[in-house]
Amino acid sequence: MKRNNYIANQSAKPHGLIGKMLMWIMRYETEKVNNFALNLLDLKANQHVLEIGFGHGITLEKIAQMDESIKLAGVDHSQLAVESFQKKSRNHSMISVECASGSQLPFNDNSFDRIFGVHIHYFLKNFRQFLLEVHRALNNDGKFILVGKYGQKSLGNFPADVYQFYPKEEIKKQLELVGFKQVEIKKDNMLGSELFGIIGIK
Ligand SMILES: C[S@@+](CC[C@H](N)C(=O)[O-])C[C@H]1O[C@@H](n2cnc3c(N)ncnc32)[C@H](O)[C@@H]1O
Repeated sequence: MKRNNYIANQSAKPHGLIGKMLMWIMRYETEKVNNFALNLLDLKANQHVLEIGFGHGITLEKIAQMDESIKLAGVDHSQLAVESFQKKSRNHSMISVECASGSQLPFNDNSFDRIFGVHIHYFLKNFRQFLLEVHRALNNDGKFILVGKYGQKSLGNFPADVYQFYPKEEIKKQLELVGFKQVEIKKDNMLGSELFGIIGIK
């Protein structure tokens, strides 16, 4: 069923009561995909990790529970996502979250060992600027993970003025162009046929 524009815009930037409900649904709906991203992250003790577009924030919480030595940060451009996380998170003292765009990260160069985003790239208006920012904020040899749907089949179910589905090969090329030295496309056969993870090493 095609997602209508209102819900599509809410997914792009949750707000108000409907945004709250949507984030609550998403925490269950996107769990398997977020677990796939977690596996690809291959986290190690004491690493600095940033999630872009954390939404409900469950994945940040999960990492905090897995390993207390990992230093966690999250940005989301939805004020609602940030405020809800700050109110509800049991681990919020360990996780620093702020309202910011993935295309303008409020961090110094070479700040993170891992940066990841799940179901966010569809909404980015300037994808190259986003990748440049991620590359800048990653440490050398740091890893970037972008998980979500890629490709034309997905287009039919989502309004094209909110969602953009870049082919995965195009995203791979874009990562290489901004300077990622090693880029790989990963698939989990349990997830849908259009769902992939892209890994870039700086
Ligand atoms: C579809 S939700 C996905 C939430 C979560 N990552 C998940 O997998 O369930 C997209 C999230 O990304 C955020 N987002 C979208 N574009 C963003 C951008 N340019 N910068 C920061 N956050 C963004 C939205 O506010 C929303 O919380």
